[in-house]
Amino acid sequence: MTEEKKKTFERYTVTSALPYANGPIHIGHLAGVYVPADIYARYLRSKERDVVFIGGSDEHGVPITIKARQENISPQDVVDKYHYMIKDSFKKFGISFDVYSRTSDPIHHKTASLFFKKLHEEGKLEEKESEQFYDEANNQFLADRYITGTCPHCSYEKAYGDQCENCGTSLSATDLINPRSVLSGNKPVMKKTRHWYLPLQDYEPMLRQWILEGHKADWKTNVYGQCKSWIDQGLQARAVTRDLDWGVKVPLEGTEGKVLYVWFDAPIGYISATREWSEKTGKDWKPYWKENDSKLVHFIGKDNIVFHCIIFPSMLYAEGSYILPENVPANEFLNLEGDKISTSRNWAVWLHEYLEEFPGQQDVLRYVLCAAAPETKDNDFTWKDFQTRNNSELLAIYGNFVNRTLVLTHKYFDGKVPGTGDLQAIDKEVLEQMAKYPQIISNSLENYRFREALNELMNLARLGNKYLTDCEPWKIFKQDPERVKTILNINLQVCASLAILSEPFLPFTSEKLFRMLDLEPLKWDASAKGDLLKEGHNINAPEFLFSKIEDEAIQNQIDKLINTRKNNKADSQKEPEAFKDDISYDDFIKMDLRIATIVQAEKVSKTRKLLKLTLDTGLGTRTVVSGIAEFYNPEDIIGQQVVLLVNLKPKTIKGIESHGMILMAENNDGEFVFVQPDKIVNNGGVIA
Ligand code: 2FM
Ligand code: ZN
Repeated sequence: MTEEKKKTFERYTVTSALPYANGPIHIGHLAGVYVPADIYARYLRSKERDVVFIGGSDEHGVPITIKARQENISPQDVVDKYHYMIKDSFKKFGISFDVYSRTSDPIHHKTASLFFKKLHEEGKLEEKESEQFYDEANNQFLADRYITGTCPHCSYEKAYGDQCENCGTSLSATDLINPRSVLSGNKPVMKKTRHWYLPLQDYEPMLRQWILEGHKADWKTNVYGQCKSWIDQGLQARAVTRDLDWGVKVPLEGTEGKVLYVWFDAPIGYISATREWSEKTGKDWKPYWKENDSKLVHFIGKDNIVFHCIIFPSMLYAEGSYILPENVPANEFLNLEGDKISTSRNWAVWLHEYLEEFPGQQDVLRYVLCAAAPETKDNDFTWKDFQTRNNSELLAIYGNFVNRTLVLTHKYFDGKVPGTGDLQAIDKEVLEQMAKYPQIISNSLENYRFREALNELMNLARLGNKYLTDCEPWKIFKQDPERVKTILNINLQVCASLAILSEPFLPFTSEKLFRMLDLEPLKWDASAKGDLLKEGHNINAPEFLFSKIEDEAIQNQIDKLINTRKNNKADSQKEPEAFKDDISYDDFIKMDLRIATIVQAEKVSKTRKLLKLTLDTGLGTRTVVSGIAEFYNPEDIIGQQVVLLVNLKPKTIKGIESHGMILMAENNDGEFVFVQPDKIVNNGGVIA
């Protein structure tokens, strides 16, 4: 038994990552965070635990200001538009937040300011001067996202100052070659500025003890592993303020033009939202955040782990009056049809579109996203799998079982629940098995194994379906109607149990099933009983819980994605870029360009774009890591001659030392192709 399970908790504070209000919500968000969080919160309510389930929009940060600038509207306009859109999608998918707040709300500004002030007054923040990029034409410091330049790892010319989207490497703006301001296109200058820092290194002993010693057994290995690696690499002070005009103003004198860093204010948003809920309900918010018998659980995606396991807990600990999370069951990423979900490439299934294209089928998507959730590793959503899971699981097992039971009850007994006669071994076995499911599913849910829990729920439907098929009441009704009464009674009890246990996963289906059984919704523990539907109780007419998803609907979705891919390719066909500034001949001849032959090629694991190449340079072989995996299969390029810059300083990319760079040209489809000699040349041949 884990540490966590031994403790008992009076109340639960369940948070789900606050999505940025700069775009709509897609299936990746739902699968990674909101479906599991909602299942957990609904389950806790069904167990009659005291729970507050928190959500809200993250409305600060640089990307929102960039979007506002692009659309020539204010950042507030951007977040207003998406906040309501996101909130609406969540509601329609049954995400049962007790409060859905937003970080541009005054209550949040007040809460975040007070938090910062307390840390500042108690000397928990360090003030430091540093040099930052500054755009002189716009009189503005530049966030890393506001700077573009050439990636030092893969030479992609449009890398951002915080990350290269081509090779995926995290960067600092100062790493970029030929940095440019996004605002003016000018070269930025370095200018002194002042900021406040949270000295994370001071919390290392606490983090070691709390996570590495205290949560080895009960945190997911992906989460624990990331935390361990961060802590072992050594923690450093992190700036918690920024030079920006959008966000929570730094609540200190003389700090005009400075705001709290978005990752400082956003998690405080969970507290602000709880306060908003408290104002609306009259319930005190403080015990949910400050009492040791409260269990705080953060549902997030893997890109948020460091913020929720290292930085936010250090902030809470530094403040002094808050509890720390008991668990942070972060998920990995969901891909779509084999490719990373991307807002900018429109490679996503958007919830507002799904709602229009599959009306009334929210539970199908909830089901598929839970069944294929990226719980322990990245997983792929495909439309074919979506169709199969609906047609062969929800419809063929769950829907078919419920429908047959209800139809037969109407056919043979006018919709009245029949009584049972003497129970045979098979009947007792089914009732015994059924009684075990609440505990089996609880056990999976309490340990954040949502896929496993859903599979067990389906096993209950399978149990009922098999029992009905094995007993074949339609074949024996004429000669033995008493036996049929027993069989249908038991099947109806399984339906009632399914209605209860499905509620966290399939809330719309559960509601419909309760209605068909003419039962008031019941709580979790009642589902073990086996006598929820009394003899003589009238059930309502059966309706279909699920419907077949036809090939045509799936093909439409696949075609939509094929079009997206085509449009993306067309967009990347662009005008030739302007020439760069002149260089001297001396600069040119510094480059040692040679012909080399690719003799080995393999994918770099855990990357989409990188290939590890071995090249024969005529003067021995060398390894080069190149961002061309999207354009070439490793097995197709063995033997190809390429142009190699051999005297580029070695660089370590994804743990591999890369010696040189292969020259590539971009074609009209936005693909990179080798620059090659038109006749075979000796390896090592000089380009001059
Ligand atoms: O990654 C994101 O989408 C962030 N907006 C999550 C913030 S979670 C919390 F800290 F608010
Ligand atoms: Zn790069």
